Amino acid sequence: MSEKILETEGLSKHFGGLKAVNNVSIHVDEGDIFGLIGPNGAGKTTLQNVVAGTYPPTFGRVKYRGRDITGLKAHQVCHAGINRTYQIVRSFPRLSALDNVKVGAIFVAKLKDRQAHQKALELLEFVEFPVDPNTMANSLNTMQLKRVEMAKALASGCKLLFLDEVAAGLTPVELKDIIVLIRRIRDNGITILIVEHLMKLIMEVCNRIAVLCFGELLAMDTPEVVTKDEKVLKAYLGDSLLI
Ligand SMILES: Nc1ncnc2c1ncn2[C@@H]1O[C@H](COP(=O)(O)OP(=O)(O)OP(=O)(O)O)[C@@H](O)[C@H]1O
Ligand SMILES: [Mg+2]
Repeated sequence: MSEKILETEGLSKHFGGLKAVNNVSIHVDEGDIFGLIGPNGAGKTTLQNVVAGTYPPTFGRVKYRGRDITGLKAHQVCHAGINRTYQIVRSFPRLSALDNVKVGAIFVAKLKDRQAHQKALELLEFVEFPVDPNTMANSLNTMQLKRVEMAKALASGCKLLFLDEVAAGLTPVELKDIIVLIRRIRDNGITILIVEHLMKLIMEVCNRIAVLCFGELLAMDTPEVVTKDEKVLKAYLGDSLLI
């Protein structure tokens, strides 16, 4: 049986009267490429934020490799082994691609400057960063920035990586490349949780999926089972997302 790397138990996050995440229990197994899907406003980013320590849950618990990490601060969750890329890319614009990646290696993995430099170069190569590593982040395009973000997260030495809408705005060719990269990251021993609207990507790479709608968990299973689930089909109202 697979080991659970992440579990949420009855996790809820309420903003005043709004139940952004409501009583959600999911688990991600070691080695999964786990998809978290759902319509806009379903609570996908909020769920990640609660797990990652951006803010504490209103109710419920979060376990990482069996350890209760509920309510830890973001930097503590990051040091525990969970890292993320953001829906809205958050690189340091006035640093080079290389220095952005070094941030993860120095401040989280605690490498010395020379080792961090080497690690950052290796990771930029691993994510197939296509231009000079010394290029300033503010002159990179979306795809290049996403690769920097991934390398930065990997530089922290994380074991669980959240990718929030990593495929948004990519061309079909870039999408193919990102699918290859996501698999390569998993094959290097990192479990991945992807939040994504693009069903093509979800269906191709994920071995398990959870569906959220208005903060509630509708289904959690393999892509084949989930996309035939009545509740899920109804939530998307026959949206072409599921074809
Ligand atoms: N900090 C906040 N304060 C108040 N309401 C919030 C906050 N963050 C999110 N919400 C609300 O919680 C609900 C869930 O939002 P969330 O961003 O988690 O959805 P999502 O599934 O990630 O959507 P999308 O697919 O559009 O990214 C929405 O109604 C949103 O407006
Ligand atoms: Mg979101």
